[in-house]
Amino acid sequence: RPSLMRSASQLLRRRRSYSSASGQPERKVAILGAAGGIGQPLSLLMKLNPLVSSLSLYDIAGTPGVAADVSHINSPALVKGFMGEDQLGEALEGSDIVIIPAGVPRKPGMTRDDLFNINAGIVKNLCTAIAKYCPNALVNMISNPVNSTVPIAAEIFKKAGTYDEKRLFGVTTLDVVRAKTFYAGKANVHVTDVNVPVVGGHAGITILPLFSQATPSTNALSDEDIKSLTKRTQDGGTEVVEAKAGKGSATLSMAYAGAVFANACLKGLNGVPDIVECTFVQSTVTELPFFASKVKLGKNGVEEVLGLGELSDFEKEGLENLKGELKASIEKGIKFANEN
Ligand code: NAD
Ligand code: LMR
Repeated sequence: RPSLMRSASQLLRRRRSYSSASGQPERKVAILGAAGGIGQPLSLLMKLNPLVSSLSLYDIAGTPGVAADVSHINSPALVKGFMGEDQLGEALEGSDIVIIPAGVPRKPGMTRDDLFNINAGIVKNLCTAIAKYCPNALVNMISNPVNSTVPIAAEIFKKAGTYDEKRLFGVTTLDVVRAKTFYAGKANVHVTDVNVPVVGGHAGITILPLFSQATPSTNALSDEDIKSLTKRTQDGGTEVVEAKAGKGSATLSMAYAGAVFANACLKGLNGVPDIVECTFVQSTVTELPFFASKVKLGKNGVEEVLGLGELSDFEKEGLENLKGELKASIEKGIKFANEN
């Protein structure tokens, strides 16, 4: 019995272990799809994050090289590569955050929904493993179509009995990153000072930037300017897909956005107050079961889903117009998870 008690207290100590160098809690981050276009630069950025103590890089191919390469960087995170399904459990075990950029990207002429047939199955398998090996991790879903892959993940976790709506996030940070950049350019304000909430979902008209709430506010923008900024934000992904001309979609800006969002999740877990990011979560902000809006992040993931605030007439119209498509994409994900 004393030895049992000793091992239990050792376990507790290990669970609450703090890195002696930084005084930060030990945090393990796993990236699934780590050898891909997003996965590689995201692995680099997470290796540079001082809040990460262990970085687990998983893919079906290519991870030994990526892991060896990134591991030589002289930052604290301990990097390990895992390849193939039989190493997935080890990759996931003990993770605080799992970031998922696994799956195929768009080519010109495709919608994000055209990726559903391939990516839905990939996400389903990965989430089944998450439920088994790290059911308490925060899941950052990047794989498209996000409007469907997040509901798929929720259903898979529900089936496994591990679903916690506070721990599942669709990553829509790239929409915010774009809205900030485009707004700063048009309003002629310094980009690092800019904030713009983006709500709704992550595809075409479901992406609804709220420029009426942008800060610093400006009177310099006409209704036409706001319309064209909105359209450019909604079509930002397509702009990159077309410029890459068949070689995939946004990878570098997405890796940046994914790293920003994961860093916010880490800070929330570590108890840093007032961490707010826009993200696609289970929601009662509208009648739709999932919706992106500002979310306060805390020690258990979602601390509070914040409301939309005051909308302009143009934004109110955009909100009504997006609901049909977003509802259909959510329902498609739920149906897939329950039929396959
Ligand atoms: P990519 O093809 O360059 O990389 C995808 C990686 O996933 C590959 O390395 C592949 O081996 C891996 N993979 C495939 N099946 C896997 C599995 N079962 N388990 C683990 N890994 C697996 O694609 P990319 O450009 O990195 O894009 C990845 C996804 O992210 C796409 O679905 C894309 O549409 C999406 N995306 C989302 C956003 C967003 O804002 N949420 C932005 C950009 C891209
Ligand atoms: C993006 O917004 O860049 C991503 O969703 C990728 C895409 O297909 O546009």
